[in-house]
Amino acid sequence: MPDEQESELSAKRSGSLWVVGTGIQLMGQVTLETESVIRSASKLLYLVTDSVTRGWLAELNDSAEDLFPLYGEGKPRIQTYSEMVQRILAFVRAGEEVCVAFYGHPGVFVHPGHEAIRLARAEGYRATMLPGISAEDCLFADLGLDPGATGCQSFEATDFLVYSRRFDEHVPLVLWQVSVIGQLTHEVENSIVGLEVLASHLAAVYGPDHEAVIYEAARYPVCPPVMRAVRIEDLPKAPLSGISTLVVLPRSPTTADMAMVKRLGIPDAYVVKKSERSTPAIPRTAQGERGPSTAPGHPEDDESTTVDPATL
Ligand SMILES: C[S@@+](CC[C@H](N)C(=O)[O-])C[C@H]1O[C@@H](n2cnc3c(N)ncnc32)[C@H](O)[C@@H]1O
Repeated sequence: MPDEQESELSAKRSGSLWVVGTGIQLMGQVTLETESVIRSASKLLYLVTDSVTRGWLAELNDSAEDLFPLYGEGKPRIQTYSEMVQRILAFVRAGEEVCVAFYGHPGVFVHPGHEAIRLARAEGYRATMLPGISAEDCLFADLGLDPGATGCQSFEATDFLVYSRRFDEHVPLVLWQVSVIGQLTHEVENSIVGLEVLASHLAAVYGPDHEAVIYEAARYPVCPPVMRAVRIEDLPKAPLSGISTLVVLPRSPTTADMAMVKRLGIPDAYVVKKSERSTPAIPRTAQGERGPSTAPGHPEDDESTTVDPATL
C-alpha cells in the first residue's frame, strides 16, 4: 500500500496495538516503557510462563486476559497462533488500545506477535513492538558468551534440521526449542526421536564426545540458572525441559587467514590476542561440571505453559 494511502487509513482507525515483552525473570526485566504501556492499555492480553507474572499483570491492568487457554494438547500450534492473532485483532478493530505481553522478547520466536503487528498495520492501525530481554540475552550474561568475540549462530532446532542450515563449528551454536523437535502440535512430552536425530546430525560434525551445555535462565531471582554439560551422544537421554536452550561449544579456535590479516594491515599480535579471549568463559563448578546439575528448587510447575511457535 502506498505510504500516503496508509497514513490516511491509519488516521481513520482508532484502535492501536503494542506488542511488549516481560523478560525471562519475573517483573525485574520489564522496561519502564513496557510497564507504562501495560498499565495504560484499555485491553491487556498476555502469554507468560509463570503464575507470579500472571498475577502481577492482572494487578497492573484490570482488563488482563490470558491467551494460554487457546492451546490444547494435540492441537496444531499454527491453529492456536491464528486464534491468538484473531483474538488480539478483534479488540484492535473494536477501537481498543491493545497491549499484548509475551514472555521474553516479544519478537523472538513469537509468531503471533509478529503476525498481529503485520495484520494490524495492513488494516491501517498503529502497531508497535517494544524490545524485551530474551533467553539469549540471559544466556550471554550467564555463560559469559560475547557474540562479538567470534560471532554466534542461533537457530530454531527443527528448522536447523529440516533446512540443513549451514553453520560454522568454530562458532558457538545456540539451538532453541530442542525439547519439541519435529512436533507441530502442543505436547507435554519431549521429542526423543527428534533428539536422536539432532545428536547424530551434530555428532557427524563435532564427534559424539563433544560438549554442549543445556541452559535454562533462572525465572525466579532466588534460583541460579541451569548450565548442565552434556555430551552430544547423550542428548536423547538428557534432562531437557520446555525452557531448555542448547549451546554447542565451538570445536576449536578458528585459524586466522593471515593473508587477509596482512591485506587489512592488522598487526599479527592482535590476531593472537583475539583467539586467546574468544572462548566463552562458562562458569565451572568444583566437580568440573558447568553450573549446578540441577537448580535446587527450580520451579518446573508452569513449564507446560512454555510457548513454542513452530517456525516451519
Ligand atoms: C517460544 S520460544 C520463546 C522465546 C522468548 N520469546 C524469548 O525471548 O526468549 C521458547 C524457547 O525459548 C527458550 N527459552 C525460553 N525460556 C527460557 C529460559 N528460561 N532459559 C533458556 N531458554 C529459554 C527455549 O529454547 C524455548 O524452547
